[in-house]
Amino acid sequence: MADLVTPFAVRTAATLGIADLVSGGPVALAELARSCRADADPLGRVLRFLVHKGVFEEPEPGVFGPNETSRAMQSDAPHGARAWLDLDGAIGRADMAFVELIEQVRGRQVAYRTAFGRTFWEDLEHSPRLSDSFDALMAAKTRAIAPGVVAAHDWGRYRAVADVGGGEGVLLGEILRAHPELRGILVDLTAPVLRAAGHLREHGLDERIETVAASFFDPLPVAADAFVLCDVLGDWGDEDAVRILRRCADAAGPHGRVLVVELTAGPDVMQLYTEMDLRMMVYVGGRMRDLEATRRIAAAAKLAVVGVARLDNGYCVIECAAGT
Ligand SMILES: C[S@@+](CC[C@H](N)C(=O)[O-])C[C@H]1O[C@@H](n2cnc3c(N)ncnc32)[C@H](O)[C@@H]1O
Repeated sequence: MADLVTPFAVRTAATLGIADLVSGGPVALAELARSCRADADPLGRVLRFLVHKGVFEEPEPGVFGPNETSRAMQSDAPHGARAWLDLDGAIGRADMAFVELIEQVRGRQVAYRTAFGRTFWEDLEHSPRLSDSFDALMAAKTRAIAPGVVAAHDWGRYRAVADVGGGEGVLLGEILRAHPELRGILVDLTAPVLRAAGHLREHGLDERIETVAASFFDPLPVAADAFVLCDVLGDWGDEDAVRILRRCADAAGPHGRVLVVELTAGPDVMQLYTEMDLRMMVYVGGRMRDLEATRRIAAAAKLAVVGVARLDNGYCVIECAAGT
């Protein structure tokens, strides 16, 4: 359980794309090293270790081939594991901040900042590579949960839905596809919004979804009767989460709704939930919340929880309306 050798060896191979390089059959070490611009000696030692761990095969000395486990690390594998493990990508890099967990627990700043000298969001702002990879990972995650979120709430009763911190607009796109009469507004920071605009054009949604570059800490320049926050509040501590909710509540007005979509504590998801809680703490200083904690921050933003739909995967669609 405490071994670090295996995760680092697996992530090194994932980052270099070794599973893709051997997907067609065994390849000699020297050729592999050339293809992924690595040094053959350390690469060979990593791969030999992984062979003994059951990832890859070595049918003859110095020649490495695929097996069932390595196929799961190919770029085209169904769950996209490689992108999450890629040390050059946003989440693979953020995972490296766990080396500073001990310092955060001892009361220092958020581990990511100790590890890299900048916050996670500052890093994304400075690196198109990191921010592209983050948006792509979020889009993949959201594609998996979107059908459940669309089915769990009556979106048809709104005229316009704003997805705040909506990333590439995957969830908003699904909601609009299911409700052809709805209009959408996607709100995010400048870089994600620019990327989202291209994505929406490709999917023929650009006529129905307006994109707005704005920070959710500022007044939202958006007219809509529903404001969605999907996997947004978990990125922030309570004070910031309340500010974000307040911005949405102000924009939604007395009759609008704020829909919080988050993995929420429940007996069936506690392992994932507590893991996500640590990830949020280490990457961005955020936190996961149970329903009670969400009610509390909603109340602090003058919102009342008026409905909760729980999905099989532990996500909840938490409907909030103007409260007292
Ligand atoms: C965890 S991602 C979730 C993205 C999307 N809602 C989803 O579920 O796929 C958090 C999003 O918040 C956005 N974000 C971060 N800080 C923001 C800010 N100050 N204002 C608006 N969006 C912000 C990020 O760009 C990112 O798209």
